[in-house]
Amino acid sequence: MTRVTLLFLLLLLSEEASSQKVCSYQDVLDYLNLTSDSSSVFKTTRPVLDHTHPTTVELDILLYAILAVIEKTQTFIPFIWVTMTWNNERIWWDPNQFCGITHVSLPRDMLWRPDLFIYEMIQKDDSPQNPYMYVSNNGIITSEEDVKVVSTCQMDIYKFPFDTQRCNISIGSAIHCVEEVRLLPSSNSSRATQFSREVMKTQGEWEFLHLSVGNYNFSFDGKQWEQLIYTFTMKRRPLLHVINFLLPILFFLTLDIASFFISDHRGEKLGFKVTVLLAISVLLLILNDILPSMSNKTPLIATYCIVIFALMLLSLLETILVTYLMEKSLASQKKQRMRGNTEEKDTTRNQNTEDKKRSICSCICKEEGEKQHELLPVVQEVNRAFKCEDSHVLLLILEELKELQKTLSVHFRDRDDAGHTSAWASRINTGFFFFYIVVVSLFLPLIYNEWKS
Ligand SMILES: *[C@@H]1O[C@H](CO)[C@@H](O)[C@H](O)[C@H]1NC(C)=O
Ligand SMILES: *[C@@H]1O[C@H](CO)[C@@H](O)[C@H](O)[C@H]1NC(C)=O
Repeated sequence: MTRVTLLFLLLLLSEEASSQKVCSYQDVLDYLNLTSDSSSVFKTTRPVLDHTHPTTVELDILLYAILAVIEKTQTFIPFIWVTMTWNNERIWWDPNQFCGITHVSLPRDMLWRPDLFIYEMIQKDDSPQNPYMYVSNNGIITSEEDVKVVSTCQMDIYKFPFDTQRCNISIGSAIHCVEEVRLLPSSNSSRATQFSREVMKTQGEWEFLHLSVGNYNFSFDGKQWEQLIYTFTMKRRPLLHVINFLLPILFFLTLDIASFFISDHRGEKLGFKVTVLLAISVLLLILNDILPSMSNKTPLIATYCIVIFALMLLSLLETILVTYLMEKSLASQKKQRMRGNTEEKDTTRNQNTEDKKRSICSCICKEEGEKQHELLPVVQEVNRAFKCEDSHVLLLILEELKELQKTLSVHFRDRDDAGHTSAWASRINTGFFFFYIVVVSLFLPLIYNEWKS
C-alpha cells in the first residue's frame, strides 16, 4: 500500500518538475553554438571530425508528375520529390536535457549540404524551394525538396505513338569523390515504384510503369565518383494520336479506294483524288511538328504515311493515265465522226446534184437499184411500191430517210469504238484496283504487327 502511494507521489513530483522546466529550440541551438555569427564552422567544411570518414548520403526520389515529354527536343520534364539524409558529426545533444526535444528545423543555408546535382538537367529549377531542413539529436539531417527537372533524354520514337520511353536521372556529387561522399538509395526499385504510384498526381499522356535505381561508379582522372541512376519507364497513351492522326489517314485511304467507283468522265475522279492527297499532306505537316529529325531509324509512323501517300500518288497517276486514254479515244471518235459527216455531206451533195439532173426523168427505179442494199427494208418497200411514181415529195422523204440511216450507222460505229476504249480503261482500272487492295491488305497488318511487337 505505502509503496504504491509513494510511487504515485514520486510520479506526480517528477511530472511537476518537468512541467516547470521550459525549453525552446533556441536553447538547443545555443547549446550547439549554432548561432548565426558563429555557425560558419557548420557550413564551411564537410561535417566530419576525422577527414577520412566518408559522408554517406541516403537518397530517395519519388515521381510526383510527368509534366511533359517533348519528342521534338528530346526533353523529359518530371516533377520529383527528393529526400536526402546524411550525418553531421558536429551535432549531438541529449534530448533529456532539453525537455525531450529530438528534432530542430533549421534554415537550409545554416549547415553544410551535399553538393548533389542532376547530370541530365539542362535548365535550372526556378520553382520555390523548401526553406528548412530537419536536424535530429544524433546528427542526422534530412532535407526534402520538390524539383521540376528539365532533363534531356534520348528517346526512341521508332514505334511512336505506341512507344515506351526510358529516361534517366543521374544524381552525383559535383566535386566530392567516392572516398568523401557515398551515395546510397534508401529504397530499392520496387519500393520506389510503389511509392511513386501512391503519390503520383498527374500522368497526362503518359502511363508511369516503373522506377528503377542503380548504383554506378564513374571514374575520371584516376578518381571515382559515385552516381545514383534513376530510370523512369513510361508508356504513351496512344489514343489521341490514333484519333488525330492514324485514323484520319486510314479514312482518306478508304476514300481513295472508294473513288475507284466514281466515273472517269470529265475529270471528277481526278479532282477528288487530288483533294484527298492534299488532305494527307496537311496531316503530314502535323507529323513534322511532333517528330524530331532522327538519323538512326525511320519511325514506323513515317513509313505508314509514306507508303499510304505513295499508294495514293500511284492511284492518282493511274487515274491520269486512264483519263488521258479516254480523252484520246474521244478525240479520235470526234475525228471519225467529223470524217463521217463530211463523207455523208459529200454523198448527199452528189446525190442532190444527180437527183436534180435526173428529176426530169420520171423513172428513178434503175438508179435507186444500185443503192438498194444500203437501205432499210421499209425504204425498199416504199421504193418498190412507188417505183415509177413521178413524185418529188416522195423522193425528198426518201432522201431524208437515207440521211437518217447514215447518221444512225455512224453513231453506232462510234458507240462501238467508245465501248472498245472504255473496256481498255476499265481493264486498267480493275487491275490497279486489285493491286491497290492487295498492297493495302498486306501493308496494314504488317505495320500493325510491327507496332505491337
Ligand atoms: C560552444 O562554445 C563554447 C565557448 O564558446 C564552448 O565552451 C562549448 O563547448 C561549445 N559547445 C559545443 C557543443 O561545442
Ligand atoms: C564504388 O566504389 C566504392 C568504393 O570503392 C565501392 O564500395 C562500391 O561498391 C562501388 N560501387 C560500384 C557500383 O561499383
